[in-house]
Amino acid sequence: MRSVAFHTLGCKVNQYDTQAMREALTEDYRIVSSEEGADIYIINTCTVTNRADQKSRQQIRNIIRKNPEALVAVIGCYAQRFPQKIAEIQGVDLILGNGEKIGITSFLNGGEKNSRSEIFVKNIDSYSRYDTLSVSKHHSHTRAFVKIQDGCQNYCSYCIIPYVRGKERSRPLENILEEIGGLVRNGFKEIVFTGIRLGSWGQDLNGRTLNHTVQGEVALAILLERVSGIEGLKRIRLSSIEPRDLNEELIDRIAQLPKVCPHLHIPLQSGDNKILKAMNRPYDTFYYRDLIEKIREKMKGVAITTDIMVGFPGEEKEEFENTYDFAKKMKFSKMHVFKYSPRPGTSAAQLKRRVGEQEIKKRSERLLGLSLKMQEEFSRLFLGKTLEILVEKRRRNNYLAGLTDNYIKVAFNGPENLVNKIVRVKIGEIKKGYVIGRLA
Ligand code: 5AD
Repeated sequence: MRSVAFHTLGCKVNQYDTQAMREALTEDYRIVSSEEGADIYIINTCTVTNRADQKSRQQIRNIIRKNPEALVAVIGCYAQRFPQKIAEIQGVDLILGNGEKIGITSFLNGGEKNSRSEIFVKNIDSYSRYDTLSVSKHHSHTRAFVKIQDGCQNYCSYCIIPYVRGKERSRPLENILEEIGGLVRNGFKEIVFTGIRLGSWGQDLNGRTLNHTVQGEVALAILLERVSGIEGLKRIRLSSIEPRDLNEELIDRIAQLPKVCPHLHIPLQSGDNKILKAMNRPYDTFYYRDLIEKIREKMKGVAITTDIMVGFPGEEKEEFENTYDFAKKMKFSKMHVFKYSPRPGTSAAQLKRRVGEQEIKKRSERLLGLSLKMQEEFSRLFLGKTLEILVEKRRRNNYLAGLTDNYIKVAFNGPENLVNKIVRVKIGEIKKGYVIGRLA
């Protein structure tokens, strides 16, 4: 049997896709880690920023340099976007887009190496139905990712993802339930719903899997209610949801479901209304603030995390300060900070009034500083309280660590056999940003 090793760059959806490809290949190939050395390497790439492109190229070159004999297949978002650029890298055998992930077995064709690189990248917009590759576990994780949809049609002015992930396509309800059932049988207690635009789930399923009268936003509630009914499943987490995809009814219904984690990741991107408009984000800060208020009213102890972008064209000092102040007011429990990167083919890439690299770096560091502070402030709210955590693994310093439902990472002393169990831990102290607890 030939051996295959995977490398994954980027988001949770990509990680899910890799796991699904891994499982699709297990019958005909031996799946190994990169260090063991493999006959075939599959690199699942990312193109969200220029840096992601660079990392993808670096990874490809590294693998070719270390494994000149191996068959090298490059797949995913960067390959979807720039197949020709990848073909220019000496030693790449196979270039596949996102739509080719489902057919990975046939493209590998036993792993025969050809003399030249071949490109199979279909126009992603030709896909109007969700492709079903599925997973039964998640490599090296206690939480399993479950992909419920693909694609995005929001077209934020900075974002390349709609061009590489295609139309919004929802995974049918029964198919999701089946996958989660399997994961739970394999011992997973927490699943993380992933997708490119989670909140659009169900919109294209009307009349097929869902009742005609059901519209998008409510559809997600139906899905969460059905998944909540799966016995043995303890936690359901949403990976990221757009502000406009949440409404009062959805929040109300989520708040009624004890298995749905009180943790919502709601990308803000900017706290300045002019910039939000230029980004083609369909909300303003007033809407966002009200939304967060409503969520906090209804979900006790909820953690709100977010994505923020710095250095979007036209973001002067004032606009940045607006973002900083707004973020502070929102009391996020964590922020992912992205430095704006012009993506060729997006409308923002044409915009003048670019922000300098040094300035972008400074702003990013300031926001990251704020994020750490807010993270600690959030954790402090739970000092002395007893929380449930799902134990992940032993850390280097010999502590066990795990996450609460509201996404606080807690370290504590305990025996190895607690891994993948949900235990109660009393939060004792916060040291250098680490939250330390004791088994209750
Ligand atoms: N430059 C920088 N960050 C970007 N993101 C998306 N497109 C870009 C870009 N062109 C960030 C957004 C999004 C996250 C997943 O990636 O903040 O929420």
